[in-house]
Amino acid sequence: MEILVWPGSLREQSLNRKLASLISQKLGEFDLEVDLIDFREYSMPLFDGDIQNTSGLPETTTRLAKKISDCDGFVLVMPEYNYGVPGPVKNAIDWLSRIRPYPTSGKVGFLSSASPSLVGGARGLIAVRPTLSFMGAWLMPDAFSLANASQAFDSEGSLRDGELDDMLREMLNKFVNAASKFADQ
Ligand code: FNR
Repeated sequence: MEILVWPGSLREQSLNRKLASLISQKLGEFDLEVDLIDFREYSMPLFDGDIQNTSGLPETTTRLAKKISDCDGFVLVMPEYNYGVPGPVKNAIDWLSRIRPYPTSGKVGFLSSASPSLVGGARGLIAVRPTLSFMGAWLMPDAFSLANASQAFDSEGSLRDGELDDMLREMLNKFVNAASKFADQ
């Protein structure tokens, strides 16, 4: 079984990249392959129907679509921008949605976020849910939002708070179980 981990922030020192690395490490403890991508390698122009009509889909869109189609489940780890979905993630999703079947169709997804704020980016995850559900993803009801993320990691990239760490492991356990049931079908 293969799980794709998609950090939805581009910047080098991103807290969401950090959380995505930790999630990848934890997923690696299960008997599965983990593919942690670098979103910078999937840069796409702003969605423009004329680009699609004249040049087709960007190569980065088809490459990301293949990654998603090939996986048995995906984890999206993204910041919240202005209570919503960050532009680069929404733009990528809009390009991906031009493909049939949707690359996310029938995939089990787990949503996660990190933010220096007290809410941890949870509102962005609520905002992305209907879009990914519309595109056929089976999203886990639980999501992991890491609040105070600037202080949450130790120097090794682990969570300082043991209870939070256990909570994340339990959520990932449920996600892996769900993804493996779908993968068997
Ligand atoms: C933010 N940030 C933010 N944080 C939050 O909790 N709620 C919000 O609505 C927003 N809005 C927002 C908009 C924009 C344009 C930026 C650049 C930032 C702060 C954000 O959570 C913080 O910068 C994170 O560190 C961004 O994630 P990465 O890049 O560290 O993964």
